[in-house]
Amino acid sequence: MRAVIAFGVAILPLVIGITWKPPEKATDFSLYQIYPRSYKDNDGDGIGDLRGVIQRLDHFTESNIDAVWLSPIFRSPMVDFGYDISNFTEIEPIFGTMKDFEDLLKAAHDRNLSVILDFVPNHTSNQHEWFKKSVQGIPPYDNYYVWHPGRMENGTRKPPNNWVSAMSGPAWEWKDERQAYYLHQFGSEQPDLNYYSPEVKREMEAILRFWLDKGIDGFRIDAMKYIYEDQRLLDEPLSGLTDDPNAIEYTQKIYTTDLQSTYDILPTWRQILDEYEQPKYIMVEVYSSTSATMKYYKYGADFAFNFDLITKLTINSTAADIKHIIDSWYNTMPEGSTPNWVAGNHDRSRLIKRVGEPRARAVTTFVLLLPGVGVTYYGEEIGMTEEYISWEQTVDPLGRKSGKANYQSTSRDPVRTPFQWNNSVSGGFSSNYHTWLPVNNNYKTLNLADEKKDKNSYYTFYEKLSKLKKSTQFKQATLVTKVLDEYVFAFARETEKHGSVYAITNFGNKASTVDLSVFDNIPRKLKVYYATADSKVLPWKSVGQVRRVTMPARSVVILTTLDAKF
Ligand code: GLC
Ligand code: MG
Repeated sequence: MRAVIAFGVAILPLVIGITWKPPEKATDFSLYQIYPRSYKDNDGDGIGDLRGVIQRLDHFTESNIDAVWLSPIFRSPMVDFGYDISNFTEIEPIFGTMKDFEDLLKAAHDRNLSVILDFVPNHTSNQHEWFKKSVQGIPPYDNYYVWHPGRMENGTRKPPNNWVSAMSGPAWEWKDERQAYYLHQFGSEQPDLNYYSPEVKREMEAILRFWLDKGIDGFRIDAMKYIYEDQRLLDEPLSGLTDDPNAIEYTQKIYTTDLQSTYDILPTWRQILDEYEQPKYIMVEVYSSTSATMKYYKYGADFAFNFDLITKLTINSTAADIKHIIDSWYNTMPEGSTPNWVAGNHDRSRLIKRVGEPRARAVTTFVLLLPGVGVTYYGEEIGMTEEYISWEQTVDPLGRKSGKANYQSTSRDPVRTPFQWNNSVSGGFSSNYHTWLPVNNNYKTLNLADEKKDKNSYYTFYEKLSKLKKSTQFKQATLVTKVLDEYVFAFARETEKHGSVYAITNFGNKASTVDLSVFDNIPRKLKVYYATADSKVLPWKSVGQVRRVTMPARSVVILTTLDAKF
């Protein structure tokens, strides 16, 4: 979408914005993802733990966080760093004890902080007792996983079909002892559970109840779309994108993802959560088409994570692109549901790596000031960056599997480095000089303690915006989105009685002066709530009654009306 310049005025072909009014009882809060291995190490072994989280609960209060989601803390051989669970109702000793968890939950609740746990229903670790018994063919465990003897081709045994694992390579692994292949949609150490077994369903329901009985506030459901597979075990159609049968994108996953039965299991889990005192949340992790993703709302999820700011936004996005990304979610979401915004997580490259520091502030503005749940991946609030990690230091199974030549494009290690608290040993993360992943070298200057003292720091900016988000009146404010120039996107949050907020972002490499009078009823005078260091808010222009703001390249300006009570 290019701006047309006529008579020195930028005329934009797309200035119509959406208007979205949050429902009366809008679910709108700040959610923080803790990657427990990397948040805070209390016992000095170089790996984060639950006592470390307890020690640093103040950080959430100060950052206006309402809920924390802990990536898996359950018993695990740690092949996939906790996403391979060998006991769903025990705490992994690396992280601490059940008592530590109970203390954490109590301390969090005392601060009005909700605690969300990671529920990983698709698979277990191959070290889980269920799997060990399944391998031995002991009922009912024999049927807990997906087994098949394979097919014979010219006298050689082959896997039952062409399914590919999400970690690349065949989704089937031969087990001599059982004389059969088992299915694993992720790593071979992560066998898929067989949800056609009623016992498996009951086991998983009992796990939900176990944690709900402890008083937790909900679950993030891991890898939801992979739960059920089509029982006919037919070959999947080829995507045509690659000839490599081991590549993740080799097949179109029509028999292994987003099956109707996968949707149908969600209401049975919702029902369990609804037996408890509300609110209890279900947030679903799915990377799928918009329609497949939206469908999870209808089946009982509070929301499916909105990954569009990760998967669709790029460094070259125009204002029209950004507006489209934002408008689409509000427009396609079923009525009355909870929108949400995510800029990063433990699987995707860090926000700053993707779009650079100044633009990242625009994205954080979307995450925190658009209506709905705003998700912060640990470290995003201080603008953590990625660090080069050598092949020798690489521990992520996805990276290891790719080999020395290719690991850098797949390894998730760089986005999982320890949180940078201050400029002391290991960035204040651990008393140990040796940490499970190296602390980013920039910790001496990029760390929370120093950023708190700097009025231009990422954290100061984050804290300011998170405070706005926390305001009850602000949560009720209507959203209006506008394209102001080729790279200048703006949105308003308007209320009738409590004032309004205008957020203007320039994603482009050039400064641009924009006219804010495209927002209806914009008052003559506004206060600057936040402005990128060198931006200039021009005075009200006497002729033409145009409110103009000069936006430097890659900048953010946030204005409020004088009567704003946020
Ligand atoms: C999800 C997790 C990822 C993990 C995978 C397998 O996608 O976010 O980290 O490797 O599931 O459990
Ligand atoms: Mg599955």
